[in-house]
Amino acid sequence: MGFSVAIIVSLAALTSAASVPNANLKRQVSQLQSSYDFVVVGGGTSGLTVADRLTQHLTTKKTLVIEYGDIQFAPGQFDPPTNWITPHPNAPPSWNFNSLPNPEFNGKTAFVRAGQVLGGSSAVNGMFFDRGTKFDHNAMAELSGDDGGPPLTKWNWSGMYSYFKKSVTFTPPSASVAAKYNYTWDEAAYGGTGPVYSSMARFQWADQPVLRRAWQEMGINPVKECADGTKEGICWAPASQHPITALRSHAGNAHYANVQPRANYDLIVKHQVVRVVYPNGPKSGPPRVEVRSLLDNTLFNVTVTGEVILSAGALHTPSILQRSGIGPSAFLASAGISTVIDLPGVGSNLQDHSGPPVTWSYSSPYPSFGPLPSQMTSNATFKAEATAAFSQTPAEGPYTLAGGNSAIFVSLPHMTAQYKTITKKIRKMATDGSASAYLPPDIRTDPAMKAGYKQQLLVLAELLENPDSPSLESPWATSEAPGGAMALSFLLHPLSRGTVRLNLSSPLDQPILDYRAGSNPVDFDLHLAQVRFLRRLFNTTTLQGLGATETAPGAAVAADDAALKGYVKQAAYLSFMHPCCTAAMMPKPKGGVVGRDLKVHGAKGLRVVDMSVLPILPAAHLSATAYAVGEKAADIIIADWE
Ligand SMILES: Cc1cc2nc3c(=O)[nH]c(=O)nc-3n(C[C@H](O)[C@H](O)[C@H](O)COP(=O)(O)OP(=O)(O)OC[C@H]3O[C@@H](n4cnc5c(N)ncnc54)[C@H](O)[C@@H]3O)c2cc1C
Ligand SMILES: *[C@@H]1O[C@H](CO)[C@@H](O)[C@H](O)[C@H]1NC(C)=O
Ligand SMILES: *[C@@H]1O[C@H](CO)[C@@H](O)[C@H](O)[C@H]1NC(C)=O
Ligand SMILES: *[C@@H]1O[C@H](CO)[C@@H](O)[C@H](O)[C@H]1NC(C)=O
Ligand SMILES: *[C@@H]1O[C@H](CO)[C@@H](O)[C@H](O)[C@H]1NC(C)=O
Ligand SMILES: *[C@@H]1O[C@H](CO)[C@@H](O)[C@H](O)[C@H]1NC(C)=O
Ligand SMILES: *[C@@H]1O[C@H](CO)[C@@H](O)[C@H](O)[C@H]1NC(C)=O
Repeated sequence: MGFSVAIIVSLAALTSAASVPNANLKRQVSQLQSSYDFVVVGGGTSGLTVADRLTQHLTTKKTLVIEYGDIQFAPGQFDPPTNWITPHPNAPPSWNFNSLPNPEFNGKTAFVRAGQVLGGSSAVNGMFFDRGTKFDHNAMAELSGDDGGPPLTKWNWSGMYSYFKKSVTFTPPSASVAAKYNYTWDEAAYGGTGPVYSSMARFQWADQPVLRRAWQEMGINPVKECADGTKEGICWAPASQHPITALRSHAGNAHYANVQPRANYDLIVKHQVVRVVYPNGPKSGPPRVEVRSLLDNTLFNVTVTGEVILSAGALHTPSILQRSGIGPSAFLASAGISTVIDLPGVGSNLQDHSGPPVTWSYSSPYPSFGPLPSQMTSNATFKAEATAAFSQTPAEGPYTLAGGNSAIFVSLPHMTAQYKTITKKIRKMATDGSASAYLPPDIRTDPAMKAGYKQQLLVLAELLENPDSPSLESPWATSEAPGGAMALSFLLHPLSRGTVRLNLSSPLDQPILDYRAGSNPVDFDLHLAQVRFLRRLFNTTTLQGLGATETAPGAAVAADDAALKGYVKQAAYLSFMHPCCTAAMMPKPKGGVVGRDLKVHGAKGLRVVDMSVLPILPAAHLSATAYAVGEKAADIIIADWE
């Protein structure tokens, strides 16, 4: 393996592009090296993980990262003098997407963000740092197919767990902090020395233990450690933050800024990858990378000799592929792009977590427990104390708690005795073929997409039936959350599938998202079961003792299927910012886009490494998974080139 010919670039073109003066860049555009073996497209969560590892281990090979955003680290979104209720006004930029209207949700759009900065979404996210279950990852491995590849390319739990561990350095809380908040953990789930930090906040608002007691009254049991592959119950999740400073740890600092300068690790920011180009067809890769400077709009090609790694995230990777002529051929034709590889799955398997809240209010006067987050804005003394505490070493106080770090994860069998009615419906629509009517219209009749969806539904039915595999997440939310006390219902394993497609009137801009939420009607059965389960909160002695009064959906609505469905349609958030699965790791005859080695089917020298490659969502927020996928992908690529 390997290649010896040095590469690249039309350096002339590169140097003519406007350079971006930035003190944090280790090299300006004009100083770029004369040859690159690897180009990583997107300096986000997975992309920087791969670039860091490739340059660390393949010391004779040169890697260039091309990032759309700038280098902009502090202040983070939740850093003083702000908290999560009033995010920092100068937080790093994000793409803001409003999806097409969702007909099943009264025409409501999904609002989705994605980081547009070095570090990608890990630099702007909520820092809740949990992992999916072993059931999720074994299901993904099953969907990825058995292509006879080496063990390294198996994506089952045992093939992933070591990469979850490797990616982070977890620092447990001190004994006194642990005792104060009843934190539990098991160091066996960690033990890595990765450059991303995770730790537990040294603060909780006073209503956290209240909800925790109520959860236990609902029959949900605390789980000692939720990061070891099982997490059905009440979970603590570490946050992606430094154990001493409590500042955000993200891909931009962990995998770039904190890396000692390496002669083989280059980055350009403020440049957009337009597409990859195969001058002699996709079998004679690697492709060239066509890049647009965001400063002067010039276009240039980067010639690559090793591989191009697409890591632009689940919303942008499919748009780069489509601009490259890799995607659903009928759609490409409508866009006037000639098809290079007909891959109907590109941008066609969009999934996200979604769901409504249940809400309540407390009897007046407000419960006597405190402090609650409003003190940060209403009480200058409290705020001054919080700011002083944060600047101590180690940092203390409210600012060490970014959002929340606990949640319940509950399986369908633990929510409703009727769970088999639901999974039976799923199996029936999968096996009799009626489910394909729920696929996006432009790929609905494609035999590969139909076969893949059928398999996804069968695998999901199994997950939903498993009493240890969560279907619902409800993160702790303070009684002072915007809109009042609320407990959100996340649908962790949705059945509906949406699309990401280029905007034909401006194909270089953000793509068009069609979430198609609720297009598979069984998602509503799941939403209803989850809301009915969460309403048990209101019957707990803990909440009743505090005079909690349900404000929505209410007993009358909850008692009636049609009325409750109406509530779900009106109240649901259609994205919890976890878009995925738009270049799924599944075989080509199942509508997949990449194989278990993450190579794009039919394309030479082109891989995808980001949250696009998951075939289905895990029962987790995605950043820990994005790092683990980056770590595993790096090992796969290194093994190919070493
Ligand atoms: C607001 C928000 C809150 C979230 N909260 C949490 C949370 O609390 N916990 C959690 O675990 N997860 C959370 N997530 C999700 C998680 O952060 C993401 O799923 C994960 O980081 C995605 O990683 P990625 O590598 O797939 O993409 P990203 O990290 O988004 O990286 C993609 C990168 O590609 C760049 N890019 C895009 N297009 C181009 C192009 N054409 N050319 C060059 N560069 C390009 C982008 O600028 C970006 O830097 C949240 C996400 C958001 C947006
Ligand atoms: C799971 O993955 C590991 C590689 O990490 C592999 O050795 C093992 O055979 C896989 N198990 C199955 C059942 O595929
Ligand atoms: C911690 O757990 C103990 C025992 O379960 C309980 O009595 C106590 O109230 C808990 N404290 C907090 C802050 O949750
Ligand atoms: C990049 O290369 C392709 C294939 O040779 C070519 O069609 C395209 O015009 C080039 N782009 C630029 C900006 O030079
Ligand atoms: C304001 O915060 C201070 C310091 O924590 C506290 O002692 C005081 O009771 C608070 N005042 C109110 C009105 O809550
Ligand atoms: C597509 O792009 C055009 C031109 O920029 C814009 O006006 C339009 O809103 C976009 N469409 C969608 C659905 O985002
Ligand atoms: C709450 O308790 C009442 C009285 O026991 C019961 O009728 C109702 O079904 C319970 N509600 C929920 C959501 O469990």
